[in-house]
Amino acid sequence: MRGHVTVPGDKSISHRSLMLGALAVGETVVEGMLEGEDVIATAQAMRAMGATVERDGDGRWHIHGVGVGGLLQPATALDMGNSGTSTRLLMGLVASHPITATFIGDASLSRRPMGRVIEPLSRMGAAFTASPGDRLPLMLRGLCPAVPIEYRLPVASAQVKSAILLAGLNTPGITRVIEPVPTRDHSERMLRGFGADLTVEVQADGTRVISLRGEAELRPQHIVVPGDPSSAAFPVVAALLVPGSDVTVANVGLNPTRAGLFGILRAMGADIEYLNRREVGGEPVADLRVRHSTLHGIEVPPDVVPSMVDEFPILFVAAAMARGRTVMHGLEELRVKESDRIAVMARGLAHCGARVTEHEDGMTIDGSDGAPLAGPSSIGDERVPTVAAELDHRIAMSFAVAGLASQGGIRIDDMAPVATSFPTFTSILADLGAAQA
Ligand code: S3P
Repeated sequence: MRGHVTVPGDKSISHRSLMLGALAVGETVVEGMLEGEDVIATAQAMRAMGATVERDGDGRWHIHGVGVGGLLQPATALDMGNSGTSTRLLMGLVASHPITATFIGDASLSRRPMGRVIEPLSRMGAAFTASPGDRLPLMLRGLCPAVPIEYRLPVASAQVKSAILLAGLNTPGITRVIEPVPTRDHSERMLRGFGADLTVEVQADGTRVISLRGEAELRPQHIVVPGDPSSAAFPVVAALLVPGSDVTVANVGLNPTRAGLFGILRAMGADIEYLNRREVGGEPVADLRVRHSTLHGIEVPPDVVPSMVDEFPILFVAAAMARGRTVMHGLEELRVKESDRIAVMARGLAHCGARVTEHEDGMTIDGSDGAPLAGPSSIGDERVPTVAAELDHRIAMSFAVAGLASQGGIRIDDMAPVATSFPTFTSILADLGAAQA
């Protein structure tokens, strides 16, 4: 695989730019927006609640906000598709507005737990009627004025943190979130950028205390979205695994709360160079030059997990071809993502001949020492194994990368979910030399 590619904009930042733009008074302009299905679901919801959201011919997005407190009652249910981020963050926004909204989603999203946001938002005064198990479809009635809370996160979740902070925007007084384990901080950075009064105090043990003064007035912004490190992960690992590769992935966001994978890959022996380091839209960014490397297994320290939580499926693939054993624990959150990513990856990798042991909170993988997966000897007569993506974009992309480095290819039952986060995935890999049947 050879060449130079650019990945689409960061999904987390794209969602937040639409939400905060919709709450500012005046025009917010966003460049580099991820135009994937998840982000489009957020754009539709903001339109349904009164904001004007338009894309111009040059690919810039223009958002005319309604002001904090100005969201309108949506006329129909908000369809969140596959997107947990849209759902949980928008639940926060609605919770402190005097409106009622119904949230629906696809089969994957309708299985995911919403109790983690229902609980704190109920404390702020919102009322919920959810499907059994605190799942979608659910109806939320916001309260205005809502009650400010101080909330210690029981799970390391940027979505829960962000839902509470977004609810706090239209809540009188100080809303405070205490985060024992740091998670991605795009909400904090962007809220500050839009002029919110937000402070972060880091305690001696690393606990972060985030305080937001409510009834905020947000000023419209010009936002440049950096490339998504979670999408860059796929061409990066493809280049590491396919012999002879030399690939540059340009404009990759390297916010320290997101970039854990690249450090772990380097610790496994990956040749990844950071070129042209700079700042884009208040986030550190670099171009990554990646060359084929001989990887070795490691024990992944559990404290890096939040900074690479979405990257474990592709790390499992890298580990499956490394020399020696890779041990990963502290991954229990993977079980409640778009699919149960521990179970689905363990099953699929084993089917491709990898040696994996599933744990309740992680996986141990004995790598093939560079030998391609899905070789005839490892899978008997079935020369091209088929794996199920389970409506999970990152599972589909991980097995596509495994297929690139395989002997006879891997068949993925459904690549459609890739459109949620990385619509240009197959064309980018093709540009680098991948063949797709
Ligand atoms: C996200 C946070 C993470 C991540 C998701 C996007 C966000 O989820 O898995 O893809 O934009 O806040 P959790 O915060 O639930 O871990």
